[in-house]
Amino acid sequence: MSAQPWTFNNPVKVHFGAGCRKTLAGQLAGQKLLVVTTARGRAQFTADPHMGTIQADLTWMDRVQPNPGLTDTQAEIDRLAGQNFDAVLAFGGGSAMDAAKALAAALAPGLPCRDLATLIADPGTHLDRPLLPLHAITTTSGTGAEVTPFATIWDHENRRKLSLASPRLFPQTAIVDPELTHGLPRAATLSTSLDALNQAFESVWNRNRTPLTTLMAARAIALALDAIPRLAADPGDHTARAMIAETSLLAGLCISQTRTAICHSISYPLTAHFGLSHGMACAFTMGAVADLVLERAPEALSEVARLSGHGTAAALVAALRDLLAALDISAQCRAALPGTEALLALRAEMHTPGRADNFSFEMNDDILARVLTRS
Ligand SMILES: [Fe+2]
Repeated sequence: MSAQPWTFNNPVKVHFGAGCRKTLAGQLAGQKLLVVTTARGRAQFTADPHMGTIQADLTWMDRVQPNPGLTDTQAEIDRLAGQNFDAVLAFGGGSAMDAAKALAAALAPGLPCRDLATLIADPGTHLDRPLLPLHAITTTSGTGAEVTPFATIWDHENRRKLSLASPRLFPQTAIVDPELTHGLPRAATLSTSLDALNQAFESVWNRNRTPLTTLMAARAIALALDAIPRLAADPGDHTARAMIAETSLLAGLCISQTRTAICHSISYPLTAHFGLSHGMACAFTMGAVADLVLERAPEALSEVARLSGHGTAAALVAALRDLLAALDISAQCRAALPGTEALLALRAEMHTPGRADNFSFEMNDDILARVLTRS
């Protein structure tokens, strides 16, 4: 165990558990709210017995697309600027959370600059005041964005992933109510679950890990390795849904401190160029990275293995490998991707600043080539 000093700062008030969304719906009565969601999310919200009956003045931004774009999000900011809201309500998965964070920032009362690209480029200068309060209600278990101060926004024209990051972007409230994930289709359930599992591991093979993030990651990993095969067999397994919701929350708390690392760094061009879903793009390299870490610096994995009941680091990585093989992750990703040579040609784009540097080792070309070849 490291004797290095460490800090932990996460100001989000978290509500977890079946039915916990009732609490927030009651608290928001009478407010003027901007609800940020997808068309599907709006239908789910409206039909929900607790959210659908909320006594609040709702303005809808229900056009969130997967991987929200700079241009589209700026158009929504321009459309909504000048209206006054008490708070922003994010209802959905990672894309709704990301768009909602951008809107909560850019629509902050009195903000002189509402240009999202400028806010992304220099949040320290421009986000100099409290943003609109953000209440994040998750309908998938994966992103953890309900407890992080980051939003991923895509420059689709230039096939680039951007990150809006500021301590002011922490939501005020996170609602993780597994009941809201019950209707999620199998493919989306597995993809988002793999993102959650990957985020837990990314916080482990990470220079910024602390004893607390390791502890949370170990529980997240133990829950996910049990829950994901159950969900693959039966997406209607509500106990497994609650387990993966907890994984997602814990992994989100971990990366709110450590940020993500090599698998996420490699994943962004795979999503931008080949349309691979975020969860699959992260899962693609997870086994090869786990092998690499096991071989070169297994200490953190050993600690997680002990804490999660897997015994040794080797046994933990074997359990992860078994899961990835059972889900046929490599073949599914390879079907959507070009050959290894073409992937290696993108390696400059795979060095995402602020992600790659968090990895336990320097992410050089040798490591990238090894990981991509063995994924
Ligand atoms: Fe992720």
